[in-house]
Amino acid sequence: MVSLDAIADALVDPGWVEIPGFLSEREADALLTHAKARRDDFSRAGIGRAGLHQLNAAIRSDEVLWLDKEDGADSLAWHRLEELRAVLNQALFLGLAELECHLAVYPEGSFYARHIDQHRNQDTRVITVVLYLNPDWRDEHGGELRLYLDDGTHRDIRPEAGKLVVFMSDRFEHEVLPAKRERWSLTGWYRRRAV
Ligand code: OGA
Ligand code: MN
Repeated sequence: MVSLDAIADALVDPGWVEIPGFLSEREADALLTHAKARRDDFSRAGIGRAGLHQLNAAIRSDEVLWLDKEDGADSLAWHRLEELRAVLNQALFLGLAELECHLAVYPEGSFYARHIDQHRNQDTRVITVVLYLNPDWRDEHGGELRLYLDDGTHRDIRPEAGKLVVFMSDRFEHEVLPAKRERWSLTGWYRRRAV
């Protein structure tokens, strides 16, 4: 069992953490099956902020399906991420008011160029969570999450089933390297209330 308190500690320092086995393979597979069943409802993801929504294939080529509470309430992943939100609020006093999330599929050959999830103080996203759903993901499949660290180095994280990555949304630039196989995930943000 993953310690949620350890995730809170890691967010204080170094500000990010990777947790293999946050979901078991079976749990990840159930969510993957659900995502695939809804494949026709996914649409091309946009970029931009403050309501300025645009599509730009040069920046990202994934497709997403936003989840609402009704979809999410019965999903184990949603429940586990809500548990984590409660622990983070208790430990870190961040005032994380809600979880917003979407499923994402990166068709073969797609990617997401280097970016940051929160444009400083212009967004209510505080913490990013990414949960991967791909069984048997191997190095040659590419599609790593490349996280740019404070010291100028980067870390490449393989998007394997059940793994959760958590990081401070305003602090780490990151990108998704081109995936050579269809790549599935759930991405979420713990948000504070807009003031
Ligand atoms: C995002 C994102 C990373 C990933 O959706 O903003 O950066 O590994 N996703 O899927
Ligand atoms: Mn991102």
